[in-house]
Amino acid sequence: MPDILAVKRRVVKFQPSKRRDENRPVAAKTGAKFRRKSLRLRKRASEQQGGVRLFQLPLGIVRHRRRCYLPMSFHATVGNMGKTITILGLESSCDDTAAAVVRYSHGQTEILSSIVFGQGELHADFGGVVPEIAARAHAEKLDYCVEEALACASVSLTAIDAVAVTAGPGLIGGVVAGVMCAKGIAAGAGLPLIGVNHLAGHALTPRLTDGLPFPYLMLLVSGGHCQFLIVNSADDFTRLGGTIDDAPGEAFDKTAKLLGLSQPGGPMVEAEARGGDAGRFVFPRPLLDRTGCDMSFSGLKTALMRARDRVVAEKGGLARQDRADLCAGFQAAVAEVLAEKSRRAIREYLDAKPVAPNFAVAGGVAANSTIRRAIETVCQEFSLRFVAPPVALCTDNAAMISWAGIERFRAGLIDGFDLAARPRWPLDRSQPAMLGSGKKGAKA
Ligand code: KG4
Ligand code: ZN
Repeated sequence: MPDILAVKRRVVKFQPSKRRDENRPVAAKTGAKFRRKSLRLRKRASEQQGGVRLFQLPLGIVRHRRRCYLPMSFHATVGNMGKTITILGLESSCDDTAAAVVRYSHGQTEILSSIVFGQGELHADFGGVVPEIAARAHAEKLDYCVEEALACASVSLTAIDAVAVTAGPGLIGGVVAGVMCAKGIAAGAGLPLIGVNHLAGHALTPRLTDGLPFPYLMLLVSGGHCQFLIVNSADDFTRLGGTIDDAPGEAFDKTAKLLGLSQPGGPMVEAEARGGDAGRFVFPRPLLDRTGCDMSFSGLKTALMRARDRVVAEKGGLARQDRADLCAGFQAAVAEVLAEKSRRAIREYLDAKPVAPNFAVAGGVAANSTIRRAIETVCQEFSLRFVAPPVALCTDNAAMISWAGIERFRAGLIDGFDLAARPRWPLDRSQPAMLGSGKKGAKA
């Protein structure tokens, strides 16, 4: 097998082949010559394996884009135990490998470091996250990510009180990689291990940044999730409703794909929509006629595809303005659905007469300014405080996992080394998990 190893050592990029089940490696730099050689080697290897087709994954992946956020401190008064807690957090549930160190001291919270290795470019050619590639990339980058997080925070493991890790829900290969890495560090350094629900990480972020008191209302909108939650405590959530099919981020990503824009689609669609007329194409507002907070976004994408096809049939193609108008119409529909469903969720939340009512958003889609504005306007109608964490903390990151770890540590919620990785993990234990096939499995 020496030939196969030789191929694996090259820096290769995957590209979808014409046949869906065969992903052939293509040299990033050496072009057709390497491509021909690679195919020859694969064919020979396949023959050696008795005709079994090999799916090769690149080993020395170097195409991650690293983001390192500056330390941030927040004067978020989250009770005061007078004790300093420093937690290392790991996140690997989807397509971001992340590690962070967060400290809680005398009521003040501080992100000492937050490192995120995005895998966007690894999956770009496939139009979505490929679980196997994601899992291997996480396994490859986690150690390095942890080293960077500790170095950026200028702390060693001796200054860490516990290791927190996303234990689900998510793409199981990535979650397993994170949990195994965290167990290794915790066992080696003699530290407690804390398993964190990824959704709880998002949901508790407004406490890290703004010290929100419980209970508060949260809209979690990202590429894999969409739900309204009442956050009662670090371990108690009430789900008021959510998507019954696609998450809004997925819908944005699919819309971008349908219109020939790059991924992730949300920011691209938002940028295009700026120059568009939201009134030219009127898209449906799904489930607004149904009571409650459930939502649906998959029909919107189909409506957009039909509108696009109509324009193409009439004009023979899409002009820039057509694309901008389609994006603006689509974004307006998502914003209106989220705003109206927020209204309903707020009414349910206020029925319980919370002492200090607050509404917070999190998840990548919360970065969309039209959506933020629409929800902020609804909050003003109810004189409710609206909290939106910084965008870097709305999208996937490990600082939120470290923080959720601090909350669990303070509550004495420590896990054993039998901590399991869970692909599905609904936050609200009183409700059955929703069925669905989002990027992260069930819309937990
Ligand atoms: O929270 P996140 O980083 O990862 C998940 O947990 O899914 O969210 C990523 C999602 C992607 O689908 C992306 O297209 C969407 O958030 N997104 C946006 C914007 N920025 C990111 N959607 C709409 N407008 C944006 N500005
Ligand atoms: Zn997320």
